[in-house]
Amino acid sequence: MSSNEIREKYLSFFKKKGHSIIPSASLVPENDPTTLFVGSGMQPLIAYLLGQKHPMGSRLVNAQKSFRADDIEEVGDNRHTTFFVMLGNWSLGDYFKEEQLCWFFSFLTEELGLKPERLYITVFSGDAKNGIPKDEESIAIWKRLFAEKGIEAKEGERIFAYGNEKNWWSRAGVPSNMPAGEPGGPDSEVFYDFGTVHDARYGESCHPNCDCGRFLEIGNSVFMEYQKQADGSFAKLKQRNVDFGGGLERITAAVNGNPDVFQGDLLYPLIAKAEELSGKQYQDMVPSFRVVADHVRGAAFMIADGVVPSNTERGYIVRRLLRRAVRHADVVGLPEGNLALLTDPLIASYEGAYPDLIFRREEIVRHIKEEEEKFRSTLQKGLREFVKLSAGNISGKEAFDLYQTYGFPLDVTLELAKERGVSVDIKVFEKEFAKHQEISRTAAAGRFKGGLADTSYETTKLHTANHLLLASLRQVLGEHVHQRGSNITAERIRLDFSHLQKVTPEELQRVEDLVNLKIQEALNMVKREMPKEEAEKLGAEMEFGIKYGDRVSIYFAENEKGDVFSKEFCGGPHVQNTTELGKFKIAKEEAISSGVRRIRAVLE
Ligand code: SER
Repeated sequence: MSSNEIREKYLSFFKKKGHSIIPSASLVPENDPTTLFVGSGMQPLIAYLLGQKHPMGSRLVNAQKSFRADDIEEVGDNRHTTFFVMLGNWSLGDYFKEEQLCWFFSFLTEELGLKPERLYITVFSGDAKNGIPKDEESIAIWKRLFAEKGIEAKEGERIFAYGNEKNWWSRAGVPSNMPAGEPGGPDSEVFYDFGTVHDARYGESCHPNCDCGRFLEIGNSVFMEYQKQADGSFAKLKQRNVDFGGGLERITAAVNGNPDVFQGDLLYPLIAKAEELSGKQYQDMVPSFRVVADHVRGAAFMIADGVVPSNTERGYIVRRLLRRAVRHADVVGLPEGNLALLTDPLIASYEGAYPDLIFRREEIVRHIKEEEEKFRSTLQKGLREFVKLSAGNISGKEAFDLYQTYGFPLDVTLELAKERGVSVDIKVFEKEFAKHQEISRTAAAGRFKGGLADTSYETTKLHTANHLLLASLRQVLGEHVHQRGSNITAERIRLDFSHLQKVTPEELQRVEDLVNLKIQEALNMVKREMPKEEAEKLGAEMEFGIKYGDRVSIYFAENEKGDVFSKEFCGGPHVQNTTELGKFKIAKEEAISSGVRRIRAVLE
């Protein structure tokens, strides 16, 4: 069965169960300062899991593009990838454990034909300290579901209970790491048993959470009904949610009985192309072929969502992916300059579900090519320098010089050091890095940084100011200006927008004055829900690269007479009246890539 068939089956199965299919959000989170990338299907839905009404209803399903930067170094085994597609379904205060476990089990066994004997289950064993009980309810449901298939599912044999480390899910991980306001809950995972022989290097005996490769996690149902409180305790959310996620490639691997996700139909075409170009076989250099395929795919999806190689934040992750891919392309013997040739097989794998890739092909190819060239032009010099240094261990300062002068990302230096049996002072490197590049966030890329998809009053005010700013930029600079990304914290707005020329100081002043004028005019922020076509007809602003559902909510900034200054596709929240904002000030404006500029602004 192909991955595309499995995706379609999943979406239509849950559609039949009353779910609305929602589009995949961009990999770049919107108005969510907590992570650099969308790493699971629930992330764009936080506000709705917390109780806001979703325009598409209380049962949702989709196939979400996801990226986990903290897995970059894990890539090489048979199942870890940085980019993946997560099949997800959600109950927003609607159904709960009974329906979820029943439907997922029937999807796996009846729709996909997986043998129930091959499935193993984990559940939450409880957390006495936080007063959260063992999930006996799920155990009872699973026992019944297996019994219906003639299988006696005993605890300790087929169903295993684990604690916070394994069977509690929140964006921040275990309960003690969660900031106040963050939702989370016990989860129940399903593992597929490939029946391979246990590898004793991973422990005496095998079990679902063993890393030897026999068991593969193929789905996680999170029962998201708790919220961390300011005093550190846990309280029930006002609604009981289900947040399910399962990796499409992993499910495909189970259906086809091959535990290597890289041999699945989505990724293997990239490897096959690399084999053809290099004349080498996958089997001879498995980890490097995997890194090349994974990293090119991750970078391509990122570029399609507007993130291009650079030295800051998200752009630096794309740079790291491509530079590591170049190193491993050399290992597998891919001729120089050939990395971008993997773009077409990639697009062929994904164009059905993510047609954006077709429209962004030129850009993807160009950026991969340019990055390979840039890196190669310094690689040789850098390697010579490295050989000199690596007579001894490498200090953090030296590692930083390799980065700054030769463009060696830390992972490349670490890999080269490992090959030569020398060590690198990572701590000092990171200090230097943060100091010089103002990108300390990158060191923790993808890691949770605390705070909710922040809906505090300060952030909400800046969010409204962001709308006024975009409308003012469009009025002063022209209608070609659109939002290309935005990141709002409690301290500031950072808005990226399309515009080719420099913005003059006079223009900036006019923009600032216009925002302040609109604040004084006491405009109301009014939310209206409507079909997407209607919103498009009204000319409401939508951000490039983001797909919206069939019913959308639009925020209008308008005066009492109904004269509209700004209208944007947006989920909120906003202040009620712009007078709440105080005084608006532009702090900085700069170019960040060709045709895209960045503005930072604050409220005083
Ligand atoms: N959010 C959960 C996960 O990422 C389920 O989707 O595993």
